[in-house]
Amino acid sequence: MAEEEQGSTQILDADREVCVEVRNLWKVFGPNPRQVVEDPELRNASKDRILQDTGCVVGLRDVSFEVRRGEFFVLMGLSGSGKSTLIRCVIRLAEPTAGSVLINGDDIVPYDDDKLGELRRSTTGMVFQHFGLLPHRSVLDNVAYGLKVRGVPEAERYERAQVYIEKVGLKGWEHHLPAALSGGMQQRVGIARALTGDPEILLLDEPFSGLDPLIRRQMQDELMDLQAELQKTLLFVTHDLTEALKVADRMAIMRDGEIIQIGSPEEVITNPSDSYVRQFVQDASPTKVLTARSVMEQPPVLLYSWQGPKAALQILRDANVDSAFVVARKGRLLGMVTVEGLVRLIRRRGTRLRDALDPDLATCSADAVVEDLVPMVAASRYPVAVVDEDERFLGEVYVSTIIATMIREQEEEEEEEEEKASVEQAEVVDEDTGVTREDSSPTGDSGEGAKS
Ligand SMILES: Nc1ncnc2c1ncn2[C@@H]1O[C@H](COP(=O)(O)OP(=O)(O)OP(=O)(O)O)[C@@H](O)[C@H]1O
Ligand SMILES: [Mg+2]
Repeated sequence: MAEEEQGSTQILDADREVCVEVRNLWKVFGPNPRQVVEDPELRNASKDRILQDTGCVVGLRDVSFEVRRGEFFVLMGLSGSGKSTLIRCVIRLAEPTAGSVLINGDDIVPYDDDKLGELRRSTTGMVFQHFGLLPHRSVLDNVAYGLKVRGVPEAERYERAQVYIEKVGLKGWEHHLPAALSGGMQQRVGIARALTGDPEILLLDEPFSGLDPLIRRQMQDELMDLQAELQKTLLFVTHDLTEALKVADRMAIMRDGEIIQIGSPEEVITNPSDSYVRQFVQDASPTKVLTARSVMEQPPVLLYSWQGPKAALQILRDANVDSAFVVARKGRLLGMVTVEGLVRLIRRRGTRLRDALDPDLATCSADAVVEDLVPMVAASRYPVAVVDEDERFLGEVYVSTIIATMIREQEEEEEEEEEKASVEQAEVVDEDTGVTREDSSPTGDSGEGAKS
């Protein structure tokens, strides 16, 4: 049944229209950038070699990906990996050297200035890391500014601006100047400004990087709420893994101008494409990332509401289990029965399985993260039942699985502590022998010799 379920979600996803499609995109900075793309040898050379031979910096190398309508898509990678260049190329704030960018199926690379202007006004909105607000204009004017440029009459633009000011929680601040606002509030103005034009696609380049962690988490929550409400397509840049894992429907990991992995946070965590990604994700806490879908199992037996108690008891005994979930037609979960409950029912000469149901049942959705299941299993004797929106049974999560995930996490933390401790100790030894790290040869630190 779980397979059927997953199958149907995949079909739904595939049905969803592609909103932004980037195909074989290159961005090369420097003199005569096209030579790099066109020369078959240079194209495949390393970034360093290209710089040496041509003076050109490769910003993006043959990047392809799709963003579906309504998707929260995250570009993530270390500094200099090409995230900003890519998001800027999507609306041609940077000019692609080669390749195409299709927005709603239309390649915008050949667009002239008029068409490009129209696209930016009507279809896309952009939020930058450093807010980019007009310092001498009020919050209201900042938010309404894009509409003014588009020639929307004053009353209408203030009315629309007001709607988004309230949506981002800035009611009461309309007439203040940006300088009177905290960083988080200024970024809310940035988001409201981008939303006021009612763009289909919102591009955000590290919008929360300048904020302290608590405010940052709050802003992430708010953006996710806004996304759920407004159903925009989001292209979001971050170099923060925790942020990416939290907000992304899917994420692309970039290195040296290339995308090296695309997948859901869960896919990236459980199946990193190479050691670079693995290094990136090894700090992520599994209980915060793994969802019920990925840790659930199929129970050895499942009972059906139309089965009689004696048959059910026989099935449980044959399978050597004490309890089982009971489903009605179409797989709708009814509850749990135990051997004990069945025996009691049979003694009472009961005939309906429903009368033996134990109401003490914990359920969760397939997207619930393991961390949130902990209090449930602590309070319940049974595994947690995973159900879909229609209460259909998808699988079960055992208490032992949850504990194992937590232990794995703890062990990893302890290993890290031990590693840290041994490094510190090694430093003390160095001091004792009078040989500090700085004294030793620089190659000795990273070479094989350093390990012995
Ligand atoms: N205008 C430019 N001229 C020359 N090289 C550039 C220019 N803009 C970006 N680059 C280069 O392109 C590469 C990608 O830069 P980009 O700013 O896109 O990285 P990023 O992933 O956004 O990094 P960060 O996290 O620091 O913002 C880098 O090597 C950078 O030096
Ligand atoms: Mg950047």
